[in-house]
Amino acid sequence: MGGVSADLVVVANRLPVDRVHLADGTPGWRRSPGGLVTAIEPVMRANDGTWMGWPGGTDQGMEPFEDDGMKLVPMSMTREEIEGHYEGFSNGTLWPLYHDLVAKPEFHREWWDAYVAVNRRFAERAAELTSEGATVWVHDYQMQLVPQMLRDLRPDLRIGFYLHIPFPPAELFQQLPWRRQILEGLLGADLVGFQLPGAAQNFIRLVRQRVGHKTHRDLVYLPDGRTVRAKAFPISIDAAGFESLARSEPVAARAEEIRAALGNPRKVFLGIDRLDYTKGIYARLRAFAELIADGHLDVEDAVFVQVAVPSREQVEQYRILRDEIDRLVGRINGDLGRIGRPAISYLHSSYPREEMAALYRTADVMVVTPYRDGMNLVAKEYVACRFEDTGALVLSEFAGAADELRQAWLVNPYDINGMKSALLDAYHADSRETTRRMRAMRRTVTQHDVAAWADSFMSELGEIPGSHGKAVRPARRS
Ligand code: F6P
Repeated sequence: MGGVSADLVVVANRLPVDRVHLADGTPGWRRSPGGLVTAIEPVMRANDGTWMGWPGGTDQGMEPFEDDGMKLVPMSMTREEIEGHYEGFSNGTLWPLYHDLVAKPEFHREWWDAYVAVNRRFAERAAELTSEGATVWVHDYQMQLVPQMLRDLRPDLRIGFYLHIPFPPAELFQQLPWRRQILEGLLGADLVGFQLPGAAQNFIRLVRQRVGHKTHRDLVYLPDGRTVRAKAFPISIDAAGFESLARSEPVAARAEEIRAALGNPRKVFLGIDRLDYTKGIYARLRAFAELIADGHLDVEDAVFVQVAVPSREQVEQYRILRDEIDRLVGRINGDLGRIGRPAISYLHSSYPREEMAALYRTADVMVVTPYRDGMNLVAKEYVACRFEDTGALVLSEFAGAADELRQAWLVNPYDINGMKSALLDAYHADSRETTRRMRAMRRTVTQHDVAAWADSFMSELGEIPGSHGKAVRPARRS
């Protein structure tokens, strides 16, 4: 596959698979965590695309290969690049900045230099891989400079960019010393997609204020005659795929097994998240524990299963969080559990889709309470798996998914008492109430699935005219 000449290339920081070393020391592949992979994989398969990204680790010089029918081009990274680009600028600067400063972003010039260098290498490789007039779809905050770098190398390409995480309001974005470069990097795309309309508006406003381009509604007019559109495309999941998995015999059997292993409680609460400080895991477990301590719930009747998928383990804030959650779970179970009846069943691990579907089937109350989240696909996966219209979803107002899943029990994750009452309401809700809510949410998720999301992005990208032919002011220099 060395001399690939592809019509669709997906550029993402990560490949959908991670290079791992198996127990016997031999190298193997494991599915990468996170929503991005879940969303793009079906689109890639449908379009016979080529996906380039980092396979994790520091192995160098890996050749393009096919895995499970997907064409993959590994982009190796050195330890310094991982520290500067991935752990540093992407996850120590941009991640907290774009998530409402849930943690404090750090600004380091050497991290920025690494981010620029890695983006350039990705853009150069994408330029080599693509055929004349091909489409390149660049993904997420780790790659925001790629669109313009790629356009400089290959003006013939149609370039789309999609941001999977929130795009902050100007008041926060402005803190970034390299704010103008990031905006100009994104403007290399023909279409810049966001999860929510508010994010697209933040971007347009910043482009007008900080770069000085003329804008009108969702359009930016560039001095070179190009038009860039910024628009919301709320991402989704393979709803039918999840539903049929949930309906399958092995998953049904596994769900029963899980419930029995938990001691057949009256109700099972469930949280599934990457172990990330934006997800609100700590506050949610505290809220649940207080309900037990206050006597509103009993460990004989209710258990909270929390799956925390290991993530970014080299980044200090993530290590601190892991220790905090470990301590909290230990304390809660020590104080409130009984023999064979922990209050919280805590799993620090990642699981295949089948096991996730079985957990979703088991859960009577799904609890998704991030402080800020671009979308949150776990909420949608839960809904897709509840084919009998049962189960309650407790959802943070600050997850993108709350815009669509209005019938969830919506909560402010900073308000512990509010969360406690929502958990209790969801626990006590009668079946008429849960069915009414779930039915409406299922309609939304099945109609707006990941295929519809990709189609709307791709057809909008296809419609962008090459040149708007309007006279515009030159970009203001600041
Ligand atoms: O959806 C946000 C995101 O950062 C993706 O870009 C990423 O693939 C996923 O979460 C998992 O994070 P990471 O690649 O840092 O493990």
